[in-house]
Amino acid sequence: MRRIHPDVEEDPDLVAAYTYPRDRWLRLNMVTSADGAAWMKGLSAGLSGQGDRRIFGVLRGLADVVLAGASTVRTEGYGPARPRESWTALREGRPPAPPIAVVTRRLDLDLGGPLFTEAEPYARPIIITTESAPQDRLDEAAKNADVIIAGEERVDMLAAVRDLRGRGLGRILCEGGPRLNAQLAAAGLVDEVSLTISPLLLGGDAARILNGVASQTSLVLAQVLEEDGFLFCRYVREAQDGPAG
Ligand SMILES: NC(=O)c1ccc[n+]([C@@H]2O[C@H](COP(=O)([O-])OP(=O)(O)OC[C@H]3O[C@@H](n4cnc5c(N)ncnc54)[C@H](OP(=O)(O)O)[C@@H]3O)[C@@H](O)[C@H]2O)c1
Repeated sequence: MRRIHPDVEEDPDLVAAYTYPRDRWLRLNMVTSADGAAWMKGLSAGLSGQGDRRIFGVLRGLADVVLAGASTVRTEGYGPARPRESWTALREGRPPAPPIAVVTRRLDLDLGGPLFTEAEPYARPIIITTESAPQDRLDEAAKNADVIIAGEERVDMLAAVRDLRGRGLGRILCEGGPRLNAQLAAAGLVDEVSLTISPLLLGGDAARILNGVASQTSLVLAQVLEEDGFLFCRYVREAQDGPAG
């Protein structure tokens, strides 16, 4: 891997390249085809490559919490983030792995599956939901997860992020999907997009990395890494006076 912007460097230190600029920072991490598709045959795996998976791991290691939409958790078969040896130094003073926080209204999740039953106590999963969530599912979820109620009918992203920060989880890594991303951007909460551009054309009707509510956020291209034709771009929100929310 090499950095090609803002300077040129062979084998850059990925931890240094992706260190969070602030303790309160929301980073989206997404992969897309060259024509903007956010999935291939319904999943992100076909878009990814070795370098992308390495960066994915480093970003999880740097995060206080991993945030994901319920559809991503269901389709991508999320389990808990497992601690890695390479994370030991960069997680000093923090739990060995970040918890997974799932945004969901229906709680149509496999509450008896690995995400909920195999997480270590220090990385108990978090359900972010609404007052209108089904009570029986909430009771079931509460056995193995912390529950955040943030909104009546729909999760209010500002309230959700404020709650995570209140738990000391300020460095938020959002792994999608596009419908969640669009709402975070519309709420002015996206500080950074870590975007892998895969050397593929796909056509079809896959969503872009933001799907749904329209918004506009100006970005600055802070860094570009390259490996095997994949581009790894770090876009940072322009004119950062401080994190939103
Ligand atoms: N290219 C990439 O890097 C990447 C990354 C992630 C995912 N993906 C792909 O993206 C697809 C899934 O993304 P998606 O955009 O369809 O869905 P998503 O954003 O992952 O999840 C949408 C779901 O999240 C919950 N949700 C979202 N906003 C909510 C709100 N305001 N209040 C309450 N619940 C809310 C709802 O869950 P309930 O239905 O449970 O109520 C909703 O159905 C998959 O194909 C996945 O493979 C690609």
